[in-house]
Amino acid sequence: MAESRPQPQLAVHIRAVKKTFGAGEAAVHALKGVNFDARQGELLMIVGPSGCGKTTLLSVIAGTLTFEGGEIDVFGASLHGMKERDITEFRKRHVGFIFQQFNLIPTLSCIENVSVPLLINGASRRVAERKAEAMLDEMGLAGRGHDWPMNLSGGQQQRVAIARALVHEPRLVICDEPTSALDKDTGGHIMDLLRSVARHPDRCVIVVTHDNRIFKYADRLTEMEDGRVQRVHDHAGHTNGEETATE
Ligand SMILES: Nc1ncnc2c1ncn2[C@@H]1O[C@H](COP(=O)(O)OP(=O)(O)OP(=O)(O)O)[C@@H](O)[C@H]1O
Ligand SMILES: [Mg+2]
Repeated sequence: MAESRPQPQLAVHIRAVKKTFGAGEAAVHALKGVNFDARQGELLMIVGPSGCGKTTLLSVIAGTLTFEGGEIDVFGASLHGMKERDITEFRKRHVGFIFQQFNLIPTLSCIENVSVPLLINGASRRVAERKAEAMLDEMGLAGRGHDWPMNLSGGQQQRVAIARALVHEPRLVICDEPTSALDKDTGGHIMDLLRSVARHPDRCVIVVTHDNRIFKYADRLTEMEDGRVQRVHDHAGHTNGEETATE
């Protein structure tokens, strides 16, 4: 029976979370009572139409946006009960965020951008830059570390942003459209890398995407619509659209 199965360890557990931007007539109800789980050791994708609340959901999970009502647990810790300082500390150490708009710092070189998560966790500049350079190599950007982000193509900037999200080996990697600027082969390489991160039993990768070429990399796929999670599909990539809804 389903009830007797052991529950997989949850990386993220969300119940009845709401988020409203603005007030009164201008209020936008971006999240309308979201229920959502992501397991440790999985790569979970989130899909849904533009404006349905995907980026908002990622931001509340990462602790960069406050939320109203409901509860969010990340690796067993309740964000609701946590002090602002502890959320910041948690995010610094354990969360890697690939932003939809990349958010590279234009006045820092690529190596310096990728070094930031290591530096804020106390690494020396020398160690941080060595690791950053190795990460950029892994992204196919060997030799570009001393360039400014603005001198790179969109796809190259996106790979710098991915390097920055992964370099400090965070437990939770949150990716907003990580392959939007990449061709098929480069996107496939990045997804292989994210899959290998998700294979660690105490880590989790959450990917928002419109890119149906990468659905096959997901362990599960969550469909959002109008501020809510509508459906969850198991083994999204292995069923050719004949997925079984689990919720
Ligand atoms: N800072 C903000 N202030 C006001 N409204 C916002 C803000 N951020 C998001 N919204 C609104 O909340 C809703 C959800 O936005 P969100 O960015 O989460 O959508 P999305 O699913 O990520 O869309 P896309 O696929 O286009 O990136 C939208 O109606 C958006 O206009
Ligand atoms: Mg978005």
